[in-house]
Amino acid sequence: MKFVVTGGAGFVGSNLVKLLVKNGHQVTVIDNLHKGKKENLDKVIEKIEFLNLDIQDYDSMEKNMQDVDGVFHQAALTVVQDSFRIPEEYHNVNVKGTENIFKIAHKNNFKVVYASSSSVYGHQKNIPILENYEKKPINPYGQTKLDDEILAEKYSKLGVKIIGLRYFNIFGKGQTLEYAGVITKFLDRIREGKAPIIFGNGSQIRDFIHVEDIAAANYLGMISNVSNSHVNVGTGNSISILELAKLMIKISKLDLTPIMSEALEGDIEKSQSDSSLARKSFDWKPERKLEEWLEEIV
Ligand SMILES: NC(=O)c1ccc[n+]([C@@H]2O[C@H](COP(=O)([O-])OP(=O)(O)OC[C@H]3O[C@@H](n4cnc5c(N)ncnc54)[C@H](O)[C@@H]3O)[C@@H](O)[C@H]2O)c1
Repeated sequence: MKFVVTGGAGFVGSNLVKLLVKNGHQVTVIDNLHKGKKENLDKVIEKIEFLNLDIQDYDSMEKNMQDVDGVFHQAALTVVQDSFRIPEEYHNVNVKGTENIFKIAHKNNFKVVYASSSSVYGHQKNIPILENYEKKPINPYGQTKLDDEILAEKYSKLGVKIIGLRYFNIFGKGQTLEYAGVITKFLDRIREGKAPIIFGNGSQIRDFIHVEDIAAANYLGMISNVSNSHVNVGTGNSISILELAKLMIKISKLDLTPIMSEALEGDIEKSQSDSSLARKSFDWKPERKLEEWLEEIV
């Protein structure tokens, strides 16, 4: 099949591209290299088409999304703290850019699987979080993802097949430091023999899901019979940031005590998915365990 991956040079996108190539598909990557790196695609670059384009450019998107079976839309600005500083830019890329893809899907008749985020939920009292819980993002980045979901519903009503995946906290090789990269940040400190720095009191709870499991959810969502849905993609388990730091220190066998620092603006307290809908809808389940991955990398 013929697929386009927007944001294909980024963390999630490049892992997804590798999975698609492995499964014998024809892939075009669209990425303006804002954050992504072409090196992330080194292993498959001979087998794919790479286009340095901006998703905000409707005409070039339209031109390059003809006769395709589906578009995996991953491109976005992704740094929560930056979204407070430049909210308009976040809206332009994440919302207007996404609407371009939905519009073209309507015109050219292809299915879209796109990256939403658990950030649409904001603070929730009850965990695990089900898809129908109230959406109340607490930062402009999360708001852009909720705006995308509203657009997805609008275009779904026009007959476009759109699946939105609400990723929880992703970890894995190739993660950028700025975004949700708490594991990468702790690891960098531990490697230098320094204690990890925790923002806030460390009681924040996170559901860490491996990037290869995210790639698989995208693929299975695309080839599934499901036409329209918003689905959680997490493990259904969680760990507090303090426990995570202690676990990483224990694995490193170093004698370190985590350093507490000021809480981050727009940081969510509790995030843990109920992932049964994704399991049921796409026959998907997470394969990689956080503990095993940490043993491997620390
Ligand atoms: N990493 C996570 O934990 C996480 C969690 C929830 C949701 N998400 C979402 O998953 C998607 C992928 O995230 P990621 O972690 O791989 O981030 P990333 O920054 O590594 O990848 C995003 C890619 O989009 C590209 N891009 C940005 N603006 C663009 C534009 N205007 N035109 C074309 N390309 C553009 C970047 O260059 C980059 O390669 C994003 O939509 C993000 O919001 C990620």
